[in-house]
Amino acid sequence: MLDLAVRAAEALVRRSEELGRKEAWDGEFRGELDEKFMEDPPERGRAPNEVMEQALTDILPLALSLDHPRCFGFVPSSATWPGVIADFLAAGYNVNSCNWLIASGTSQLECVVIDWFRQWLGYPDTGGGVLTSGGSAASLDALVAAREAAGYPESASVYMSDQSHSAHQRAVKIVGIRPEHARIVPSDNCFRIDMGELASMVAEDRAAGLEPIAVCANAGATATGAVDPLEKLADFCASEGIWLHVDAAYGGFAVVTERGKRILRGIDRADSVGLDAHKWFFQPYEVGCLMVRDISTLEKPFAIRPDFLQDALWGSGHPNFWDRGLQMSRSARALKIWMSVQTFGMAAFRQAISNGLELAERAQEYIDESPVLTCTSPASLSVVCFRVDPAGQDIADHDLDEINREVLAHLFWDDPAFMSSAMPGGRFSLRLCIVNYNTTWDDVRETLSAAERFGQDALL
Ligand SMILES: Cc1ncc(COP(=O)(O)O)c(C=O)c1O
Repeated sequence: MLDLAVRAAEALVRRSEELGRKEAWDGEFRGELDEKFMEDPPERGRAPNEVMEQALTDILPLALSLDHPRCFGFVPSSATWPGVIADFLAAGYNVNSCNWLIASGTSQLECVVIDWFRQWLGYPDTGGGVLTSGGSAASLDALVAAREAAGYPESASVYMSDQSHSAHQRAVKIVGIRPEHARIVPSDNCFRIDMGELASMVAEDRAAGLEPIAVCANAGATATGAVDPLEKLADFCASEGIWLHVDAAYGGFAVVTERGKRILRGIDRADSVGLDAHKWFFQPYEVGCLMVRDISTLEKPFAIRPDFLQDALWGSGHPNFWDRGLQMSRSARALKIWMSVQTFGMAAFRQAISNGLELAERAQEYIDESPVLTCTSPASLSVVCFRVDPAGQDIADHDLDEINREVLAHLFWDDPAFMSSAMPGGRFSLRLCIVNYNTTWDDVRETLSAAERFGQDALL
């Protein structure tokens, strides 16, 4: 056991030392991998070191290294080592953090961590939450709570902007709301939900017999980092009696910084907030969170008590986290957050999050000064979108889309960085999302400079 664990730890430490010198992406086609791995399960085992070596050599490296300092695509993730070790320990202790009886230690830590989040969001004492597998699960649980609060209307409708994450449309389907009643509200030229359009759609839908139950707002839309006008949304939802869910899966942890708190003003008035600690809070997958202003709104739909679980009840003041969401058996997610925060302290977390905010702003300055690049969605939180579009050259939009697709392909194959694309305003754009505590200005600058270089080649 010890030899294997030591070897695994050495491999992980070596990986992290070498990460910045490698390409951010590696992968292989299905055919090649089928040939190597598709087989019946062996009747007899083999040496554990040999099995692990194969995993280390042939399987685990075939991935986007989301923690590579030049991984800017989608929403990256850079886990802290105490967080990784916490997951290892929790797996070793085989903790099922489902209720107080079965796991009082990690249930207590979940109370602690949820209370930190409650304070950071500015929620009152009634607030609480549950750690989830991620942001999608948080959105799903939020819609269950919204539906319960609305009394399960037959013709429920839910509103979200055209920038909202697909997780919400999926959640609408899962909770049994008709997909066409997931109403997509246009966003304004800053990619924020258009309040006028929202009000008209809600009014029209009510007149047509629908019962609006929830608005899903963005606090850091995936494509652009846009933050919806949370205070206006809170006013609107309060006056209409509609549940306000804020999807802060990517952007929410910015509230620990003064600047982030200003950007996310109004988040404390949401009925629920989804957060992802495996994004901008530096934890290994999986750990998301659903927070609600009033914990009873979450326990009402989810706490169900069959006889065969009657022994699990410890008594009041001892929450059973299975009463707050979909999952019964649950890994001990609070441990990694707690161990990382205890190890580094909040000053380090604030610094790491500020790093992303500052680098995105510097990236935008670079883009604004570049003769080759044009910003298509300015820095919002730590996301900035741009494309090759030289000033003074009148190139058709369609051609620019093609040129930028080519630039992205070059970055993918010929540069160590990894970026993904977005379509702000319908324009194919390259997108930087900077959430890695190891990313430096050199990483960002050299990636932007590579985009300029590939852009110049593509323009020839
Ligand atoms: C804004 C936003 N919401 C929700 C999600 C879904 O979160 P998860 O992948 O943790 O389920 C994402 C994922 O990138 C996201 O960026």
